[in-house]
Amino acid sequence: MKQFDYLVLGSGIAGLTFALQVAPHGRVAIITKKNRAESNTNYAQGGIAAVTSKEDTTEMHVRDTLEAGAGLCREAVVRTIVQEGPARIAELIELGMKFSEREIPRSEGARELDLGKEGGHSKRRILHAKDVTGREIERALLNAVAGQPSIEIFEDHFAIDLITNQKLGEPGPNRCRGVYVLDKRAGVVETFAANVILLATGGCGKVYLYTTNPDIATGDGVAMAYRAGAAVANMEFIQFHPTCLYHPRAKSFLISEAVRGEGGVLKTIQGAEFMNAYHPLGSLAPRDIVARAIDNEMKRSGAGHVLLDITQMPAAFVRERFPNIYETCQRYGIDITKEAIPVVPAAHYQCGGVLTNVDGETEIEGLYAVGEVACTGLHGANRLASNSLLEALVCAHRAGLRVLAQTHPTTTPVIPAWQSGHATNPDELVVISHNWDEIRRLMWDYVGIVRTNKRLLRAQSRIANLQEEIQQYYWDFIVTSDLLELRNIATVAELIVASALQRPESRGLNYNLDFPRPDPAWAQRDTVLRKG
Ligand code: FAD
Ligand code: SIN
Repeated sequence: MKQFDYLVLGSGIAGLTFALQVAPHGRVAIITKKNRAESNTNYAQGGIAAVTSKEDTTEMHVRDTLEAGAGLCREAVVRTIVQEGPARIAELIELGMKFSEREIPRSEGARELDLGKEGGHSKRRILHAKDVTGREIERALLNAVAGQPSIEIFEDHFAIDLITNQKLGEPGPNRCRGVYVLDKRAGVVETFAANVILLATGGCGKVYLYTTNPDIATGDGVAMAYRAGAAVANMEFIQFHPTCLYHPRAKSFLISEAVRGEGGVLKTIQGAEFMNAYHPLGSLAPRDIVARAIDNEMKRSGAGHVLLDITQMPAAFVRERFPNIYETCQRYGIDITKEAIPVVPAAHYQCGGVLTNVDGETEIEGLYAVGEVACTGLHGANRLASNSLLEALVCAHRAGLRVLAQTHPTTTPVIPAWQSGHATNPDELVVISHNWDEIRRLMWDYVGIVRTNKRLLRAQSRIANLQEEIQQYYWDFIVTSDLLELRNIATVAELIVASALQRPESRGLNYNLDFPRPDPAWAQRDTVLRKG
Protein backbone atom coordinates (compact mmCIF):
# COMPACT_ATOMS: atom_id res chain seq x y z
CA MET A 1 0.00 0.00 0.00
CA LYS A 2 1.26 3.47 -0.90
CA GLN A 3 0.59 6.10 1.76
CA PHE A 4 0.43 9.87 1.12
CA ASP A 5 -0.94 12.93 2.94
CA TYR A 6 -2.80 14.14 -0.14
CA LEU A 7 -4.04 12.13 -3.09
CA VAL A 8 -4.95 14.12 -6.21
CA LEU A 9 -6.80 12.32 -9.00
CA GLY A 10 -6.16 14.22 -12.23
CA SER A 11 -3.50 16.56 -13.61
CA GLY A 12 -5.58 19.29 -15.28
CA ILE A 13 -5.86 22.84 -13.94
CA ALA A 14 -7.86 21.75 -10.86
CA GLY A 15 -5.57 18.93 -9.73
CA LEU A 16 -2.31 20.77 -10.35
CA THR A 17 -3.48 23.99 -8.66
CA PHE A 18 -4.59 22.08 -5.57
CA ALA A 19 -1.38 20.02 -5.47
CA LEU A 20 0.73 23.17 -5.52
CA GLN A 21 -1.34 24.66 -2.71
CA VAL A 22 -0.93 21.72 -0.31
CA ALA A 23 2.58 20.62 -1.34
CA PRO A 24 4.42 22.63 1.37
CA HIS A 25 2.39 20.78 4.04
CA GLY A 26 2.84 17.10 3.18
CA ARG A 27 3.49 14.40 0.60
CA VAL A 28 1.28 14.61 -2.49
CA ALA A 29 0.57 11.92 -5.10
CA ILE A 30 -0.96 12.98 -8.41
CA ILE A 31 -2.58 10.01 -10.16
CA THR A 32 -3.25 10.58 -13.84
CA LYS A 33 -4.44 8.08 -16.40
CA LYS A 34 -2.32 9.12 -19.40
CA ASN A 35 0.64 11.47 -19.68
CA ARG A 36 0.67 14.38 -17.23
CA ALA A 37 -0.46 17.09 -19.69
CA GLU A 38 -3.31 15.10 -21.25
CA SER A 39 -6.51 16.70 -19.98
CA ASN A 40 -9.39 18.88 -21.15
CA THR A 41 -7.38 21.79 -19.78
CA ASN A 42 -4.66 21.14 -22.34
CA TYR A 43 -7.09 21.76 -25.22
CA ALA A 44 -8.74 24.93 -23.89
CA GLN A 45 -8.65 27.61 -26.55
CA GLY A 46 -10.72 30.71 -25.73
CA GLY A 47 -9.29 31.50 -22.30
CA ILE A 48 -10.19 32.43 -18.71
CA ALA A 49 -12.93 34.90 -17.89
CA ALA A 50 -11.97 37.43 -15.21
CA VAL A 51 -12.52 41.10 -14.52
CA THR A 52 -9.24 42.87 -15.26
CA SER A 53 -10.19 45.91 -17.33
CA LYS A 54 -11.33 49.35 -16.19
CA GLU A 55 -14.42 49.10 -18.42
CA ASP A 56 -15.55 45.91 -16.66
CA THR A 57 -16.96 45.25 -13.18
CA THR A 58 -17.52 42.25 -10.93
CA GLU A 59 -21.21 43.05 -11.03
CA MET A 60 -21.30 42.77 -14.84
CA HIS A 61 -19.49 39.42 -14.82
CA VAL A 62 -21.88 38.18 -12.12
CA ARG A 63 -24.87 39.35 -14.15
CA ASP A 64 -23.66 37.65 -17.35
CA THR A 65 -23.03 34.39 -15.47
CA LEU A 66 -26.50 34.46 -13.87
CA GLU A 67 -28.12 35.29 -17.21
CA ALA A 68 -26.42 32.36 -18.99
CA GLY A 69 -27.25 30.05 -16.05
CA ALA A 70 -30.99 30.52 -16.71
CA GLY A 71 -32.09 30.98 -13.12
CA LEU A 72 -30.29 28.00 -11.62
CA CYS A 73 -26.93 29.44 -10.50
CA ARG A 74 -26.18 29.79 -6.79
CA GLU A 75 -25.65 33.53 -6.64
CA ALA A 76 -23.39 33.50 -3.57
CA VAL A 77 -21.10 30.99 -5.29
CA VAL A 78 -21.07 33.08 -8.48
CA ARG A 79 -20.09 36.18 -6.50
CA THR A 80 -17.28 34.42 -4.62
CA ILE A 81 -15.75 32.90 -7.76
CA VAL A 82 -16.01 36.07 -9.85
CA GLN A 83 -14.62 38.23 -7.01
CA GLU A 84 -11.65 35.95 -6.29
CA GLY A 85 -10.79 35.34 -9.96
CA PRO A 86 -8.45 38.30 -10.53
CA ALA A 87 -6.26 37.43 -7.51
CA ARG A 88 -5.91 33.82 -8.67
CA ILE A 89 -5.06 34.98 -12.19
CA ALA A 90 -2.33 37.22 -10.77
CA GLU A 91 -0.88 34.16 -8.94
CA LEU A 92 -0.99 32.12 -12.15
CA ILE A 93 0.97 34.87 -13.94
CA GLU A 94 3.41 34.88 -11.02
CA LEU A 95 3.89 31.12 -11.53
CA GLY A 96 4.93 31.73 -15.14
CA MET A 97 1.70 31.72 -17.18
CA LYS A 98 2.09 33.93 -20.25
CA PHE A 99 -1.16 35.52 -21.42
CA SER A 100 -1.32 37.36 -24.75
CA GLU A 101 -0.77 41.10 -24.51
CA ARG A 102 -1.37 44.04 -26.79
CA GLU A 103 0.08 47.48 -27.14
CA ILE A 104 -1.92 50.20 -25.41
CA PRO A 105 -2.91 52.69 -28.12
CA ARG A 106 -1.07 56.04 -27.94
CA SER A 107 1.15 54.92 -25.04
CA GLU A 108 4.62 54.67 -26.56
CA GLY A 109 4.91 50.91 -26.49
CA ALA A 110 3.31 50.18 -23.09
CA ARG A 111 1.46 46.84 -23.04
CA GLU A 112 -1.62 45.39 -21.35
CA LEU A 113 -3.41 42.02 -21.30
CA ASP A 114 -5.28 41.35 -24.53
CA LEU A 115 -8.91 40.59 -23.72
CA GLY A 116 -11.08 38.37 -25.91
CA LYS A 117 -14.85 38.29 -26.20
CA GLU A 118 -17.13 35.26 -26.19
CA GLY A 119 -20.85 34.46 -26.27
CA GLY A 120 -22.96 35.84 -23.41
CA HIS A 121 -20.23 38.24 -22.15
CA SER A 122 -21.23 41.90 -22.13
CA LYS A 123 -17.57 43.00 -22.03
CA ARG A 124 -14.20 41.92 -23.35
CA ARG A 125 -12.85 39.92 -20.38
CA ILE A 126 -11.27 36.68 -21.63
CA LEU A 127 -7.57 36.37 -20.86
CA HIS A 128 -5.95 34.05 -23.36
CA ALA A 129 -2.67 32.78 -24.78
CA LYS A 130 -3.55 33.22 -28.46
CA ASP A 131 -5.81 30.18 -29.12
CA VAL A 132 -3.79 27.67 -27.04
CA THR A 133 -4.58 28.94 -23.54
CA GLY A 134 -4.89 25.48 -22.00
CA ARG A 135 -1.57 24.26 -23.33
CA GLU A 136 0.13 27.29 -21.79
CA ILE A 137 -1.67 26.74 -18.45
CA GLU A 138 -0.52 23.11 -18.32
CA ARG A 139 3.04 24.13 -19.21
CA ALA A 140 3.16 26.75 -16.44
CA LEU A 141 1.55 24.55 -13.76
CA LEU A 142 3.54 21.40 -14.60
CA ASN A 143 6.72 23.45 -14.53
CA ALA A 144 5.84 24.69 -11.04
CA VAL A 145 4.94 21.15 -9.91
CA ALA A 146 8.32 19.88 -11.15
CA GLY A 147 9.95 22.26 -8.66
CA GLN A 148 8.12 20.73 -5.67
CA PRO A 149 9.97 17.70 -4.27
CA SER A 150 6.96 16.67 -2.15
CA ILE A 151 4.82 16.02 -5.26
CA GLU A 152 5.08 12.67 -7.05
CA ILE A 153 3.23 12.17 -10.35
CA PHE A 154 2.01 8.68 -11.30
CA GLU A 155 1.36 8.70 -15.07
CA ASP A 156 -0.59 5.90 -16.81
CA HIS A 157 -2.28 5.17 -13.48
CA PHE A 158 -6.07 4.77 -13.66
CA ALA A 159 -8.15 5.41 -10.52
CA ILE A 160 -10.73 2.61 -10.38
CA ASP A 161 -12.71 3.15 -7.20
CA LEU A 162 -12.73 5.15 -3.99
CA ILE A 163 -12.25 3.20 -0.77
CA THR A 164 -14.58 4.37 2.00
CA ASN A 165 -15.37 3.43 5.59
CA GLN A 166 -18.69 2.09 4.37
CA LYS A 167 -17.07 -0.18 1.81
CA LEU A 168 -14.64 -1.40 4.47
CA GLY A 169 -17.60 -2.14 6.74
CA GLU A 170 -16.38 0.31 9.39
CA PRO A 171 -18.80 2.24 11.61
CA GLY A 172 -19.16 6.02 11.67
CA PRO A 173 -19.78 8.61 8.99
CA ASN A 174 -18.81 7.77 5.43
CA ARG A 175 -15.15 8.77 5.04
CA CYS A 176 -12.83 8.32 2.08
CA ARG A 177 -9.63 6.46 2.96
CA GLY A 178 -7.98 5.68 -0.34
CA VAL A 179 -8.25 4.62 -3.95
CA TYR A 180 -7.68 1.44 -5.95
CA VAL A 181 -5.53 2.34 -8.94
CA LEU A 182 -4.64 0.34 -12.05
CA ASP A 183 -1.00 0.76 -13.03
CA LYS A 184 -1.61 0.46 -16.78
CA ARG A 185 2.00 -0.35 -17.71
CA ALA A 186 2.48 -3.07 -15.09
CA GLY A 187 -1.11 -4.33 -15.35
CA VAL A 188 -1.51 -4.49 -11.55
CA VAL A 189 -3.98 -2.83 -9.19
CA GLU A 190 -2.35 -0.88 -6.36
CA THR A 191 -3.81 0.62 -3.20
CA PHE A 192 -3.17 4.30 -2.46
CA ALA A 193 -4.17 5.55 1.01
CA ALA A 194 -4.57 9.15 2.22
CA ASN A 195 -6.80 11.14 4.52
CA VAL A 196 -7.42 13.85 1.93
CA ILE A 197 -8.45 12.84 -1.57
CA LEU A 198 -9.21 15.33 -4.35
CA LEU A 199 -11.27 14.30 -7.37
CA ALA A 200 -10.09 16.46 -10.27
CA THR A 201 -10.87 14.02 -13.05
CA GLY A 202 -12.67 16.45 -15.40
CA GLY A 203 -15.75 15.91 -17.54
CA CYS A 204 -17.56 13.30 -19.60
CA GLY A 205 -17.69 14.41 -23.26
CA LYS A 206 -16.84 10.88 -24.41
CA VAL A 207 -20.29 9.71 -23.30
CA TYR A 208 -21.44 11.25 -26.60
CA LEU A 209 -20.56 10.16 -30.12
CA TYR A 210 -19.43 13.64 -31.15
CA THR A 211 -17.46 15.70 -28.68
CA THR A 212 -14.79 18.38 -28.46
CA ASN A 213 -13.21 16.49 -25.54
CA PRO A 214 -10.08 14.33 -25.66
CA ASP A 215 -10.24 10.59 -24.86
CA ILE A 216 -9.61 11.04 -21.11
CA ALA A 217 -13.06 12.63 -20.60
CA THR A 218 -15.06 9.56 -19.60
CA GLY A 219 -16.72 10.85 -16.43
CA ASP A 220 -14.66 8.56 -14.16
CA GLY A 221 -14.82 10.92 -11.17
CA VAL A 222 -18.60 11.28 -11.22
CA ALA A 223 -19.01 7.51 -11.58
CA MET A 224 -16.56 6.76 -8.74
CA ALA A 225 -18.12 9.31 -6.39
CA TYR A 226 -21.62 8.05 -7.14
CA ARG A 227 -20.59 4.45 -6.43
CA ALA A 228 -19.03 5.64 -3.15
CA GLY A 229 -22.30 7.25 -2.03
CA ALA A 230 -21.74 10.95 -2.85
CA ALA A 231 -24.54 13.13 -4.22
CA VAL A 232 -24.37 13.96 -7.92
CA ALA A 233 -26.32 17.00 -9.17
CA ASN A 234 -27.66 18.55 -12.40
CA MET A 235 -26.21 16.00 -14.80
CA GLU A 236 -28.90 16.80 -17.40
CA PHE A 237 -27.08 20.02 -18.23
CA ILE A 238 -24.58 18.88 -20.84
CA GLN A 239 -23.26 21.80 -22.84
CA PHE A 240 -22.92 21.33 -26.59
CA HIS A 241 -20.36 23.65 -28.13
CA PRO A 242 -21.82 25.14 -31.30
CA THR A 243 -18.69 24.99 -33.42
CA CYS A 244 -16.67 21.80 -33.71
CA LEU A 245 -14.81 21.36 -37.02
CA TYR A 246 -16.81 19.21 -39.45
CA HIS A 247 -14.36 17.15 -41.46
CA PRO A 248 -14.19 13.37 -41.99
CA ARG A 249 -10.57 13.18 -40.79
CA ALA A 250 -10.80 15.66 -37.88
CA LYS A 251 -11.31 14.12 -34.45
CA SER A 252 -12.79 16.50 -31.89
CA PHE A 253 -11.26 19.77 -33.07
CA LEU A 254 -12.86 22.86 -31.55
CA ILE A 255 -13.25 26.16 -33.39
CA SER A 256 -13.15 28.59 -30.48
CA GLU A 257 -16.05 30.86 -29.65
CA ALA A 258 -13.40 33.60 -29.69
CA VAL A 259 -13.55 33.35 -33.50
CA ARG A 260 -17.11 34.67 -33.28
CA GLY A 261 -15.90 37.16 -30.65
CA GLU A 262 -13.53 38.59 -33.27
CA GLY A 263 -16.20 38.89 -35.96
CA GLY A 264 -16.87 35.33 -37.18
CA VAL A 265 -20.47 34.87 -38.36
CA LEU A 266 -22.56 31.69 -38.58
CA LYS A 267 -24.14 31.01 -41.96
CA THR A 268 -26.12 28.26 -43.65
CA ILE A 269 -24.34 26.24 -46.32
CA GLN A 270 -26.02 28.57 -48.83
CA GLY A 271 -24.21 31.49 -47.15
CA ALA A 272 -27.21 33.09 -45.37
CA GLU A 273 -26.72 34.50 -41.85
CA PHE A 274 -29.33 33.00 -39.53
CA MET A 275 -28.52 33.77 -35.89
CA ASN A 276 -30.21 37.19 -35.82
CA ALA A 277 -33.53 35.40 -36.23
CA TYR A 278 -32.89 33.52 -32.97
CA HIS A 279 -31.34 36.08 -30.60
CA PRO A 280 -30.49 39.82 -30.52
CA LEU A 281 -26.81 38.94 -29.89
CA GLY A 282 -26.72 36.97 -33.17
CA SER A 283 -23.72 34.65 -33.50
CA LEU A 284 -22.58 35.68 -29.98
CA ALA A 285 -25.76 34.61 -28.19
CA PRO A 286 -25.38 32.25 -25.17
CA ARG A 287 -24.13 28.83 -26.19
CA ASP A 288 -27.33 26.85 -25.55
CA ILE A 289 -29.24 29.13 -27.90
CA VAL A 290 -26.60 29.01 -30.65
CA ALA A 291 -26.28 25.19 -30.47
CA ARG A 292 -30.07 24.75 -30.66
CA ALA A 293 -30.34 27.22 -33.55
CA ILE A 294 -27.68 25.31 -35.52
CA ASP A 295 -29.40 22.00 -34.73
CA ASN A 296 -32.67 23.50 -35.97
CA GLU A 297 -31.12 24.89 -39.18
CA MET A 298 -29.44 21.53 -39.91
CA LYS A 299 -32.68 19.61 -39.33
CA ARG A 300 -34.70 22.11 -41.39
CA SER A 301 -32.36 22.04 -44.39
CA GLY A 302 -31.10 18.46 -44.07
CA ALA A 303 -27.51 19.81 -44.22
CA GLY A 304 -24.80 17.95 -42.30
CA HIS A 305 -23.23 21.17 -41.00
CA VAL A 306 -23.33 24.97 -41.05
CA LEU A 307 -20.55 27.48 -41.78
CA LEU A 308 -18.51 29.84 -39.64
CA ASP A 309 -17.16 32.71 -41.69
CA ILE A 310 -14.30 34.96 -40.55
CA THR A 311 -13.04 35.84 -44.04
CA GLN A 312 -14.12 39.48 -43.64
CA MET A 313 -11.33 40.00 -41.07
CA PRO A 314 -7.79 40.78 -42.31
CA ALA A 315 -5.89 37.54 -43.02
CA ALA A 316 -2.81 38.63 -41.04
CA PHE A 317 -4.96 39.28 -37.95
CA VAL A 318 -6.67 35.87 -38.20
CA ARG A 319 -3.33 34.04 -38.58
CA GLU A 320 -1.81 35.93 -35.62
CA ARG A 321 -4.82 35.66 -33.27
CA PHE A 322 -5.75 32.02 -34.08
CA PRO A 323 -2.52 30.29 -35.13
CA ASN A 324 -3.58 26.81 -33.95
CA ILE A 325 -7.02 26.96 -35.58
CA TYR A 326 -5.52 28.42 -38.78
CA GLU A 327 -2.82 25.74 -39.04
CA THR A 328 -5.08 22.84 -38.11
CA CYS A 329 -7.74 23.83 -40.66
CA GLN A 330 -5.01 24.38 -43.25
CA ARG A 331 -3.92 20.75 -42.71
CA TYR A 332 -7.46 19.68 -43.63
CA GLY A 333 -7.35 21.82 -46.76
CA ILE A 334 -9.38 24.75 -45.38
CA ASP A 335 -7.85 28.23 -45.55
CA ILE A 336 -9.95 30.08 -42.97
CA THR A 337 -8.78 33.47 -44.22
CA LYS A 338 -10.36 32.72 -47.62
CA GLU A 339 -13.24 30.31 -46.98
CA ALA A 340 -15.87 29.62 -44.32
CA ILE A 341 -15.25 26.77 -41.86
CA PRO A 342 -17.70 23.82 -41.82
CA VAL A 343 -18.87 23.34 -38.21
CA VAL A 344 -21.31 21.26 -36.15
CA PRO A 345 -22.28 21.26 -32.45
CA ALA A 346 -20.63 18.63 -30.23
CA ALA A 347 -20.78 17.64 -26.54
CA HIS A 348 -18.38 19.93 -24.72
CA TYR A 349 -18.89 20.47 -21.00
CA GLN A 350 -20.57 18.85 -18.01
CA CYS A 351 -22.28 21.60 -15.98
CA GLY A 352 -23.42 19.20 -13.26
CA GLY A 353 -21.25 16.78 -11.28
CA VAL A 354 -20.35 15.74 -7.77
CA LEU A 355 -22.23 18.08 -5.45
CA THR A 356 -19.84 20.36 -3.55
CA ASN A 357 -19.73 23.70 -1.83
CA VAL A 358 -17.46 26.45 -3.12
CA ASP A 359 -14.58 24.92 -1.10
CA GLY A 360 -14.82 21.62 -2.96
CA GLU A 361 -16.24 19.65 0.00
CA THR A 362 -18.44 16.68 -0.94
CA GLU A 363 -20.85 14.76 1.28
CA ILE A 364 -18.11 12.20 2.01
CA GLU A 365 -15.56 13.21 4.65
CA GLY A 366 -12.03 13.49 3.30
CA LEU A 367 -13.28 13.59 -0.30
CA TYR A 368 -13.10 16.87 -2.20
CA ALA A 369 -14.01 17.57 -5.83
CA VAL A 370 -12.93 20.53 -7.95
CA GLY A 371 -13.14 21.52 -11.61
CA GLU A 372 -15.39 20.03 -14.26
CA VAL A 373 -16.11 16.95 -12.12
CA ALA A 374 -17.80 19.12 -9.49
CA CYS A 375 -21.12 20.94 -9.33
CA THR A 376 -20.67 24.06 -7.20
CA GLY A 377 -23.68 25.96 -8.55
CA LEU A 378 -21.59 28.44 -10.59
CA HIS A 379 -22.90 27.34 -13.98
CA GLY A 380 -26.55 26.66 -13.20
CA ALA A 381 -28.36 25.41 -16.29
CA ASN A 382 -25.77 26.68 -18.78
CA ARG A 383 -22.11 27.64 -18.32
CA LEU A 384 -20.96 31.04 -19.46
CA ALA A 385 -18.00 30.65 -21.85
CA SER A 386 -14.56 30.58 -20.21
CA ASN A 387 -15.97 30.37 -16.68
CA SER A 388 -14.79 26.78 -16.15
CA LEU A 389 -11.05 27.42 -16.00
CA LEU A 390 -11.90 30.28 -13.64
CA GLU A 391 -13.98 28.02 -11.40
CA ALA A 392 -11.27 25.35 -11.29
CA LEU A 393 -8.60 27.89 -10.36
CA VAL A 394 -10.59 29.60 -7.62
CA CYS A 395 -12.13 26.45 -6.11
CA ALA A 396 -8.85 24.48 -6.12
CA HIS A 397 -7.27 27.31 -4.14
CA ARG A 398 -10.21 27.43 -1.72
CA ALA A 399 -10.21 23.64 -1.32
CA GLY A 400 -6.50 23.80 -0.49
CA LEU A 401 -7.14 26.42 2.21
CA ARG A 402 -10.07 24.42 3.58
CA VAL A 403 -8.09 21.19 3.78
CA LEU A 404 -5.21 22.91 5.54
CA ALA A 405 -7.56 24.47 8.10
CA GLN A 406 -9.18 21.13 8.99
CA THR A 407 -7.95 18.33 11.21
CA HIS A 408 -7.77 14.91 9.62
CA PRO A 409 -7.41 11.42 11.14
CA THR A 410 -3.82 10.57 12.00
CA THR A 411 -4.18 6.79 11.74
CA THR A 412 -3.38 4.78 8.64
CA PRO A 413 -6.39 2.72 7.64
CA VAL A 414 -6.09 -1.00 7.05
CA ILE A 415 -7.23 -1.48 3.49
CA PRO A 416 -7.47 -4.93 1.95
CA ALA A 417 -5.58 -5.42 -1.31
CA TRP A 418 -7.59 -5.51 -4.56
CA GLN A 419 -9.05 -8.96 -5.18
CA SER A 420 -9.17 -10.21 -8.76
CA GLY A 421 -10.89 -13.45 -7.65
CA HIS A 422 -11.21 -15.89 -10.54
CA ALA A 423 -11.11 -13.16 -13.18
CA THR A 424 -9.41 -14.15 -16.40
CA ASN A 425 -8.23 -12.18 -19.42
CA PRO A 426 -11.16 -10.83 -21.49
CA ASP A 427 -12.04 -13.35 -24.22
CA GLU A 428 -13.85 -11.07 -26.66
CA LEU A 429 -12.72 -7.45 -26.71
CA VAL A 430 -15.32 -6.74 -29.39
CA VAL A 431 -17.94 -6.70 -26.60
CA ILE A 432 -16.20 -3.69 -25.03
CA SER A 433 -15.82 -1.72 -28.25
CA HIS A 434 -19.37 -2.54 -29.35
CA ASN A 435 -20.87 -1.36 -26.07
CA TRP A 436 -18.73 1.79 -26.10
CA ASP A 437 -20.09 2.68 -29.56
CA GLU A 438 -23.65 1.78 -28.66
CA ILE A 439 -23.77 4.00 -25.57
CA ARG A 440 -22.18 6.97 -27.31
CA ARG A 441 -24.50 6.72 -30.31
CA LEU A 442 -27.67 6.30 -28.28
CA MET A 443 -26.74 9.25 -26.08
CA TRP A 444 -26.20 11.35 -29.22
CA ASP A 445 -29.45 10.23 -30.85
CA TYR A 446 -31.76 10.15 -27.80
CA VAL A 447 -30.22 12.43 -25.16
CA GLY A 448 -28.78 15.24 -27.29
CA ILE A 449 -29.50 18.93 -27.81
CA VAL A 450 -33.27 18.45 -28.16
CA ARG A 451 -34.91 15.78 -25.99
CA THR A 452 -38.32 14.14 -25.52
CA ASN A 453 -39.46 11.90 -22.69
CA LYS A 454 -40.09 9.04 -25.12
CA ARG A 455 -36.48 9.15 -26.33
CA LEU A 456 -35.17 9.48 -22.77
CA LEU A 457 -37.14 6.41 -21.65
CA ARG A 458 -35.88 4.45 -24.64
CA ALA A 459 -32.33 5.43 -23.74
CA GLN A 460 -32.90 4.48 -20.11
CA SER A 461 -34.00 0.93 -20.86
CA ARG A 462 -31.14 0.34 -23.33
CA ILE A 463 -28.57 1.65 -20.87
CA ALA A 464 -29.96 -0.64 -18.15
CA ASN A 465 -29.51 -3.68 -20.44
CA LEU A 466 -26.01 -2.65 -21.38
CA GLN A 467 -25.10 -2.13 -17.74
CA GLU A 468 -26.04 -5.70 -16.85
CA GLU A 469 -23.74 -7.00 -19.55
CA ILE A 470 -20.93 -4.64 -18.53
CA GLN A 471 -21.26 -5.59 -14.86
CA GLN A 472 -20.97 -9.27 -15.74
CA TYR A 473 -17.89 -8.53 -17.81
CA TYR A 474 -16.42 -6.46 -14.96
CA TRP A 475 -16.67 -9.36 -12.48
CA ASP A 476 -15.52 -12.10 -14.84
CA PHE A 477 -12.49 -10.51 -16.45
CA ILE A 478 -9.27 -8.82 -15.38
CA VAL A 479 -9.78 -5.07 -15.53
CA THR A 480 -8.39 -2.95 -18.36
CA SER A 481 -8.72 0.80 -18.77
CA ASP A 482 -11.12 0.31 -21.72
CA LEU A 483 -13.41 -1.84 -19.58
CA LEU A 484 -13.21 0.58 -16.64
CA GLU A 485 -14.04 3.53 -18.88
CA LEU A 486 -16.93 1.64 -20.43
CA ARG A 487 -18.34 0.94 -16.98
CA ASN A 488 -17.99 4.64 -16.11
CA ILE A 489 -19.55 6.05 -19.30
CA ALA A 490 -22.50 3.69 -18.76
CA THR A 491 -22.96 5.01 -15.20
CA VAL A 492 -22.69 8.64 -16.32
CA ALA A 493 -25.12 8.02 -19.20
CA GLU A 494 -27.55 6.54 -16.65
CA LEU A 495 -27.19 9.64 -14.45
CA ILE A 496 -27.68 12.10 -17.35
CA VAL A 497 -30.85 10.32 -18.45
CA ALA A 498 -32.21 9.98 -14.91
CA SER A 499 -31.60 13.67 -14.21
CA ALA A 500 -33.22 14.73 -17.50
CA LEU A 501 -36.25 12.61 -16.69
CA GLN A 502 -36.51 14.21 -13.26
CA ARG A 503 -36.72 17.75 -14.65
CA PRO A 504 -40.16 18.40 -16.18
CA GLU A 505 -39.21 21.66 -17.90
CA SER A 506 -36.92 23.22 -20.48
CA ARG A 507 -34.24 25.34 -18.87
CA GLY A 508 -30.83 26.30 -20.22
CA LEU A 509 -29.20 23.23 -21.74
CA ASN A 510 -32.03 20.83 -20.89
CA TYR A 511 -34.44 21.33 -23.78
CA ASN A 512 -37.37 18.88 -23.76
CA LEU A 513 -40.10 19.17 -26.41
CA ASP A 514 -42.64 17.67 -23.97
CA PHE A 515 -42.08 20.62 -21.60
CA PRO A 516 -40.95 23.45 -23.89
CA ARG A 517 -40.87 26.22 -21.28
CA PRO A 518 -39.17 26.81 -17.91
CA ASP A 519 -41.37 26.00 -14.92
CA PRO A 520 -41.04 28.62 -12.13
CA ALA A 521 -41.52 25.81 -9.58
CA TRP A 522 -38.22 24.33 -10.81
CA ALA A 523 -36.22 27.56 -10.69
CA GLN A 524 -33.47 27.07 -8.08
CA ARG A 525 -34.16 23.32 -7.84
CA ASP A 526 -31.24 20.97 -8.49
CA THR A 527 -31.73 17.38 -9.60
CA VAL A 528 -29.77 15.39 -7.02
CA LEU A 529 -29.05 11.66 -7.34
CA ARG A 530 -27.56 9.31 -4.74
CA LYS A 531 -26.90 5.59 -5.14
CA GLY A 532 -29.77 3.57 -3.76
P1 FAD B 1 -9.19 18.18 -16.86
O1 FAD B 1 -8.36 19.27 -17.33
O2 FAD B 1 -10.01 17.46 -17.87
O3 FAD B 1 -8.24 17.12 -16.16
C1 FAD B 1 -8.73 15.86 -15.77
C2 FAD B 1 -7.55 15.00 -15.38
O4 FAD B 1 -8.01 13.82 -14.75
C3 FAD B 1 -6.73 14.53 -16.57
O5 FAD B 1 -5.38 14.58 -16.18
C4 FAD B 1 -7.16 13.08 -16.75
O6 FAD B 1 -6.22 12.25 -17.37
C5 FAD B 1 -7.37 12.68 -15.30
N1 FAD B 1 -8.28 11.54 -15.10
C6 FAD B 1 -9.56 11.39 -15.48
N2 FAD B 1 -10.05 10.22 -15.06
C7 FAD B 1 -9.05 9.60 -14.38
C8 FAD B 1 -8.92 8.36 -13.71
N3 FAD B 1 -9.92 7.46 -13.64
N4 FAD B 1 -7.73 8.06 -13.14
C9 FAD B 1 -6.69 8.92 -13.20
N5 FAD B 1 -6.76 10.11 -13.83
C10 FAD B 1 -7.92 10.44 -14.40
N6 FAD B 1 -12.99 26.25 -20.46
C11 FAD B 1 -12.72 27.56 -20.30
O7 FAD B 1 -12.97 28.11 -19.23
N7 FAD B 1 -12.15 28.25 -21.31
C12 FAD B 1 -11.83 27.71 -22.51
O8 FAD B 1 -11.31 28.37 -23.38
C13 FAD B 1 -12.13 26.34 -22.72
N8 FAD B 1 -11.88 25.74 -23.90
C14 FAD B 1 -12.09 24.40 -24.02
C15 FAD B 1 -11.73 23.77 -25.22
C16 FAD B 1 -11.87 22.40 -25.35
C17 FAD B 1 -11.50 21.73 -26.64
C18 FAD B 1 -12.36 21.65 -24.26
C19 FAD B 1 -12.50 20.16 -24.38
C20 FAD B 1 -12.74 22.27 -23.08
C21 FAD B 1 -12.60 23.65 -22.95
N9 FAD B 1 -12.96 24.30 -21.78
C22 FAD B 1 -12.70 25.63 -21.63
C23 FAD B 1 -13.38 23.54 -20.61
C24 FAD B 1 -12.17 23.38 -19.68
O9 FAD B 1 -11.03 23.14 -20.46
C25 FAD B 1 -12.35 22.26 -18.70
O10 FAD B 1 -13.60 22.35 -18.07
C26 FAD B 1 -11.28 22.32 -17.62
O11 FAD B 1 -10.01 22.35 -18.23
C27 FAD B 1 -11.40 21.14 -16.70
O12 FAD B 1 -10.28 21.11 -15.87
P2 FAD B 1 -10.16 19.95 -14.80
O13 FAD B 1 -8.85 20.13 -14.12
O14 FAD B 1 -11.39 19.89 -14.00
O15 FAD B 1 -10.16 18.60 -15.69
C1 SIN C 1 -13.95 28.15 -26.71
O1 SIN C 1 -12.80 28.56 -26.92
O2 SIN C 1 -14.90 28.35 -27.47
C2 SIN C 1 -14.20 27.36 -25.50
C3 SIN C 1 -14.49 28.24 -24.39
C4 SIN C 1 -15.17 27.50 -23.29
O3 SIN C 1 -15.56 26.35 -23.44
O4 SIN C 1 -15.34 28.11 -22.23
